[in-house]
Amino acid sequence: MVALAVTERASTALARGAALDVEGVSHAFDIDGAVLPVLDDVSFSVKPGEFVALLGPSGCGKSTLLRLVAGLEAPRSGTLREDGDPITGPFPSRVVVFQDPTLFPWRTVWNNVALGLEAQGILKTQRHRVDAAIELVGLSGFRNAYPHQLSGGMAQRVALARALVNDPQLLILDEPLGKLDSLTRITMQAEIASLWQRSGFTTLLVTHDVEEAVFLANRVIVFSDRPARIKADIAVDSPYPRHRGDPKLSELRRNILGLLGLDATW
Ligand SMILES: Nc1ncnc2c1ncn2[C@@H]1O[C@H](COP(=O)(O)OP(=O)(O)O)[C@@H](O)[C@H]1O
Ligand SMILES: [Mg+2]
Repeated sequence: MVALAVTERASTALARGAALDVEGVSHAFDIDGAVLPVLDDVSFSVKPGEFVALLGPSGCGKSTLLRLVAGLEAPRSGTLREDGDPITGPFPSRVVVFQDPTLFPWRTVWNNVALGLEAQGILKTQRHRVDAAIELVGLSGFRNAYPHQLSGGMAQRVALARALVNDPQLLILDEPLGKLDSLTRITMQAEIASLWQRSGFTTLLVTHDVEEAVFLANRVIVFSDRPARIKADIAVDSPYPRHRGDPKLSELRRNILGLLGLDATW
């Protein structure tokens, strides 16, 4: 678990959240001469420090949208802005954590987390940030471990630390807990909620787990089938820390499952 003693350091080490504006974004891919529309006129804004979950059918375009937000690709039309400035490429303040932790097997935990600072050429003077990020995800005892010595949950914590070491203003999570067993997932959901609350970065989370979305997010945006259009934008106003048994959250979960076309009478 994440130690509470790091609260002060976390709030000073991590940057405040960025505002995100997605305006009229459409995107498509060319496959074998045919055009595959993936996003259709998607517009939404995220306030600094907000936690927004994105839900939608598999293949509707959620990961594509995250890639546009990260600046890894440019949209066919529309604009994306971070704090008012157009997003034109990747930037260390916007980091993505994917489902697969993709750690370098020949590097220790510490050296995997250090990658971002190394790439920016600032590791020499900023080594303390690597230690702080590892401490934030509760892996201080595993600094010198190699990826093959870690459980799936621990490896995903390292991926999270590798993102946090950049002091993100916008943390982009693409089904980060999707491959973990349900107990580890529940533990890590609580850890992500706690990290987000203490640090104040803006979070965009794609998940296929409706319960996870309503447990973590301030807002849940539900997308249609491909090409993704916004079907609903739902506020989740329960205070944190939340309780899984909260009847309000259960009702929201039922409504959202209904929007996704699933009969949720169980
Ligand atoms: N680089 C790409 N080239 C061609 N098609 C792609 C590419 N990336 C994604 N797609 C297609 O775009 C659609 C949406 O993909 P994706 O955004 O990954 O969906 P989701 O994350 O919602 O499951 C899919 O049909 C996928 O096959
Ligand atoms: Mg995806």
